[in-house]
Amino acid sequence: MSTQKPLSISQLAHRLDGEASEVWAVHDRALDMQANGEDVILLCVGDPDFPTPEPIFYQALAAMKRDRTHYSPAQGELGLREAVAELESKTSPHPCAADDIVIFPGGTNALYSVFSCICDVGDEVVVPDPMYVGYCGVFDAVGVKTVPVALRADANFALDMDAMKAAITDKTKAVIVNTPGNPCGNMISAAELAELAAYTRERGVWLISDEVYSMITFKQRHVSLRAAAEALDNVIMVDGLSKSHAMSGWRVGWVVAPQSLVPHLTHLAGASVFGCPQFIQDAAAFALRHDDYYVAQMRDEYKKRRDFLVARINAMAGVSAESPDAGMFVMMRTDGVASSGQAFAERLLDEAGVSVVPGAGFGDVTANYVRITLAQPVSVLTKAMDRMANMLAEDATRTAV
Ligand SMILES: Cc1ncc(COP(=O)(O)O)c(C=O)c1O
Repeated sequence: MSTQKPLSISQLAHRLDGEASEVWAVHDRALDMQANGEDVILLCVGDPDFPTPEPIFYQALAAMKRDRTHYSPAQGELGLREAVAELESKTSPHPCAADDIVIFPGGTNALYSVFSCICDVGDEVVVPDPMYVGYCGVFDAVGVKTVPVALRADANFALDMDAMKAAITDKTKAVIVNTPGNPCGNMISAAELAELAAYTRERGVWLISDEVYSMITFKQRHVSLRAAAEALDNVIMVDGLSKSHAMSGWRVGWVVAPQSLVPHLTHLAGASVFGCPQFIQDAAAFALRHDDYYVAQMRDEYKKRRDFLVARINAMAGVSAESPDAGMFVMMRTDGVASSGQAFAERLLDEAGVSVVPGAGFGDVTANYVRITLAQPVSVLTKAMDRMANMLAEDATRTAV
């Protein structure tokens, strides 16, 4: 008989069992259908469809040729941290130094590192609902309890400041906001950010802002939390290049944090990542300093797609969409034609071969919505909207008979 002791896995690993699988069920089914040769249009993922701008690619290549292929400091290469600090100093009245920044392989890892450094298992984090689905994995891994606060669906998903404040209790360790927001493209005003920063500071609560869509705005310029807040000692900002620079696969993100937190983030980066690739950080620093032209070009294209999509949706009976101020998605309301966003997404895939994300995956507030990506050209969006319009028109004919 074997005397081997049973092997076990950690509570952290268990907390991630089944993570986010339901949210992506429609998308996964669409991928299976596509693999079986079916004609499916994928409108789920927020991965820019543009290639990374060529000059950035050549910078990485040149850096590799210069032998920038070795270990790098845990906090991040000074050159990239200086480029981020320049950007932050330009967009905020508060000066930012390279020493206030820690580089991570992407915004997700940056967020995971932030929550790991400030929270213990069981701590509460206040988060607007709906929220980016990627937060679920981060929160589950760290073991925090989330306290969702509904965004105001009747006001194009504006923040409900009174409800945010009411949700903050003695158990609250941190509040996270996402501006511009995924999935709703909502932007939080400077006044609101300042108010929340002052309130959380007084309550001894960290305030984190995820600003990865800061450069994809259509109406007014983004205001960062660091620009709006009067004092920065409880303020943490996360940003990266995945969206704005079409560099999702390069995995570049960063945290701008108070000096009280920077050494802890650096220690964690050292223990987990042990330095991001040098040549990628060199290319990222170049990208940040030379992005005027191509970031604007991509932003203009997303705006064109947004306007197209919103107009097409609102021309159909039973569905509607407000025009998002920023970001890479349009939220479409489905309660005029389906019992839930989930039911609509399932049907749209089955009957029209178009896959979108059911809104319930982002939070209760968007259960009657689906999320449609702007990361597809107008030609593809046209085809998808034609198919959806046909499906809904057939419904109308059936009802009329
Ligand atoms: C709101 C938000 N934050 C963070 C991320 C993570 O981005 P990345 O890890 O690619 O930097 C995403 C990606 O979709 C996002 O939508």
